[in-house]
Amino acid sequence: MKIERGTAAYISGGGSGIGRGMALAFARRGVRVGVADIREADAAATVDIIRQNGGEAIAIGADVSDRASVEAAADAIESAFGPASIICNNAGIAMHGVPIHEISPDDWDWAIGVNIYGVIHGLQVFVPRLLDGGRPGHVVNTASIGGFQVNPNFLTAAYSMTKYAVVALSEGLRNEMEGRPIGVSVLAPAAVDTGIHLSERARPDRFGGATVRPQNHFMGDLIKDGADPATIGERVARAVEDDEFYVFTHPETRYWLERRHAEILDAFDRAARSEGIEDASQAAE
Ligand SMILES: NC(=O)c1ccc[n+]([C@@H]2O[C@H](COP(=O)([O-])OP(=O)(O)OC[C@H]3O[C@@H](n4cnc5c(N)ncnc54)[C@H](O)[C@@H]3O)[C@@H](O)[C@H]2O)c1
Repeated sequence: MKIERGTAAYISGGGSGIGRGMALAFARRGVRVGVADIREADAAATVDIIRQNGGEAIAIGADVSDRASVEAAADAIESAFGPASIICNNAGIAMHGVPIHEISPDDWDWAIGVNIYGVIHGLQVFVPRLLDGGRPGHVVNTASIGGFQVNPNFLTAAYSMTKYAVVALSEGLRNEMEGRPIGVSVLAPAAVDTGIHLSERARPDRFGGATVRPQNHFMGDLIKDGADPATIGERVARAVEDDEFYVFTHPETRYWLERRHAEILDAFDRAARSEGIEDASQAAE
């Protein structure tokens, strides 16, 4: 979409990392940003940076795993700046370093609550408001390269599971918005230098409250040489302008997907051979 100055945006997880990068990139384009974060003081710090640079923003304390909280964020943005046209469902938490059978019930609920329901709530709250207004808009859902393959190294099954869901929601939303002035992007970064290895600081009380998960901390070392969140934010703003759907940020990870897709296509070849068809592509309608 063409980003007009004065357009309102919702950015969840805007108090840190990639969300802050997006907030700053949109603010540079004259977008008025609702920075939503469960850590409200961090959202306020992002707002301060935007204001110091002459932009407009408000900080909203919001827990994306709670639908009513996302409704309240949408209302707050609407009162301050008018209805949001750029919707970034970005808040997410890490759930790495623990095998599937050892993840506690609370941690499953937390990962699903934030990483999947956080996006569902964002879509259910904001998309009807976008459709009612009939105005152009754009939805960005932050998945991960982990939404396209499960890295064999870091015990990432639970995290990847949530990100596969974000990719599916995004692909589905794109289908559903066909013919309407609403674009969709799904962001799939690899390592970015953010605070994600400290996600447990923001675990809501109903999932057990703030805690320490040393299993996640190895990620701090992995991502400290990762991409700069400001660069990712700028990449996202350009993807919105250019209406890009899949937004990858680390071209060097392409072979991870090639490896997975080759295995899947090979499985189709075996399926075809078991049906007596030599070339699987001949089985296509
Ligand atoms: N950092 C990476 O290497 C990387 C790679 C791929 C994808 N991602 C994804 O990028 C997104 C942003 O993460 P980041 O790396 O910037 O991490 P980050 O921890 O720096 O930022 C995430 C923000 O989300 C907030 N948050 C957490 N739970 C919340 C909740 N329930 N409600 C509202 N806000 C909440 C946190 O307080 C934090 O400010 C996530 O969805 C993450 O999965 C990150």
